[in-house]
Amino acid sequence: MSNYPIGIFDSGVGGTSIFKEIHALLPNENIIYLADSRNAPYGNKTQEEIKNLSIKNTEYLLNKGCKIIVVACNTATTNAITYLRESYEMPFIGIEPAIKPAALNTKTNAVGILATKGTLSSQLFHKTSDLYANGIKVVEQIGEGIVPLIESGKLNSDEMKDLLQLYLEPMLKANIDYLVLGCTHYPYLIPMLETMLPEGVKIIDSGLAVAKQTKAVLQSQDLLNLNEATPSVKLHSNSNVEVLNTLVGGNFETTFLDF
Ligand code: SIN
Repeated sequence: MSNYPIGIFDSGVGGTSIFKEIHALLPNENIIYLADSRNAPYGNKTQEEIKNLSIKNTEYLLNKGCKIIVVACNTATTNAITYLRESYEMPFIGIEPAIKPAALNTKTNAVGILATKGTLSSQLFHKTSDLYANGIKVVEQIGEGIVPLIESGKLNSDEMKDLLQLYLEPMLKANIDYLVLGCTHYPYLIPMLETMLPEGVKIIDSGLAVAKQTKAVLQSQDLLNLNEATPSVKLHSNSNVEVLNTLVGGNFETTFLDF
């Protein structure tokens, strides 16, 4: 079973930020990535809709024989992973906003979190925030409009810069020293954010931590692929493959798939 693929899904192309970390840390692994871009963004959908889309993606990956599923989407994790873990036997890795390291390390006692409405309104997010950020000012900001811009290939646009300016303003007023990226699309904004944030504000995303957690779970279940033959790495989108291809740097097999 160890040579069975790792399945990764996201509401779209953003989860490729997680895919890249996993592929870099586990280069022997076969991987199937699903970008459900046709249904992006998940962030404004109801919990029921997010759950049903997550089931659809899981079923596809399950039918492909995946040994583990990485839910590379904060919105799907916070709204559906409990259900998925209860309903399927395979291990699931999820992504939660990295509020804990930000809360532990802040010197200004203020941290910012940029995420979707679906993530910020979820019970799981509030549980984590209450647990780790007690006594710390957490400036929550919904990143309305960011995912659609990335999905339509407008990552480095003036529209994106205007949105980020708007969303950063209350955080900077509150004197944050950590900005937590609570959506897997957002790591692609880091170069732009770095030009906009004052020196000293650190950006945290969860990509590497998720890759390490994936490795740890595979190791603990004796599922690591030790075969050094070139792995099969396939990325599928049910919408614009060009955007997917651009984000992964044209280095992998990317195809349209009507899933
Ligand atoms: C979205 O589809 O709205 C964003 C995905 C995420 O939360 O990572």
